[in-house]
Amino acid sequence: MRIIVEDNYDKLSEKAAQIVAQKIRENPRIVLGLATGVTTIGLYKELGRMYKEEGLDFANVTTFNLDEYVGLAPDHPQSYNFAMNENLFYKINIPETNIFIPYGPVRNIEKHCQWYEKIIQEKGGIDFQIIGIGGNGHIGFNEPGSSFDSVTRVVDLDEKTIKDNARFFDSINDVPKQAMTMGISTIMNAKECFLLASGEHKAEIIEKALKGPVTTDVPASILQNHPNLIVILDKTAAKQN
Ligand code: F6R
Repeated sequence: MRIIVEDNYDKLSEKAAQIVAQKIRENPRIVLGLATGVTTIGLYKELGRMYKEEGLDFANVTTFNLDEYVGLAPDHPQSYNFAMNENLFYKINIPETNIFIPYGPVRNIEKHCQWYEKIIQEKGGIDFQIIGIGGNGHIGFNEPGSSFDSVTRVVDLDEKTIKDNARFFDSINDVPKQAMTMGISTIMNAKECFLLASGEHKAEIIEKALKGPVTTDVPASILQNHPNLIVILDKTAAKQN
């Protein structure tokens, strides 16, 4: 495990983007795994800038997002499809056909999840997986208790996750109760994992995830067993303030 600590969120975002850009330059056909959420916004903004100002080329990059809320259409402002379009995809030259993200309103959810898992394999697996961490230690929407063998599937969201995400919706009742998510095994099969965390509110869970026992109670703790893990934190998340 390699841990990088940056002074603040902006520095973390810049450094994270440099690392991702380097991976793309080394392998222009890279398959990236992506996370939504507030932590990755700065990283995506910086990648957009690198495309515009430095010609970072996404023409042959393929992406798979970790998760999506069940029922939310891509034009719903709180859907992860919408967030990815606004924060990254509309800002770079990635072809639409190279973008994969679960489709919220899909009728046959189970079949869709199986298809998602299969298409990841068909594209050769994920080379570099970007991950955020939930306050309860979730990765993707793999909530505490998720099996380490899990693959892409539909899950019920944890009470804490629903509460954490309520700030993005008009009311807590509008927060979807289910999501589709890559499984923990799907994530662990990525050749390299890149975990980002920022802010004091993440410090405790980061410590548990990186230094505590590997347990399904803290899904992110499994990353300790990943052979190629890079963690990037700001000082507050690293408890260095
Ligand atoms: C989102 C995802 C989630 C988030 C996590 C952290 O695609 O997979 O696991 O990464 O909830 O979210 P933020 O960055 O909003 O704190």
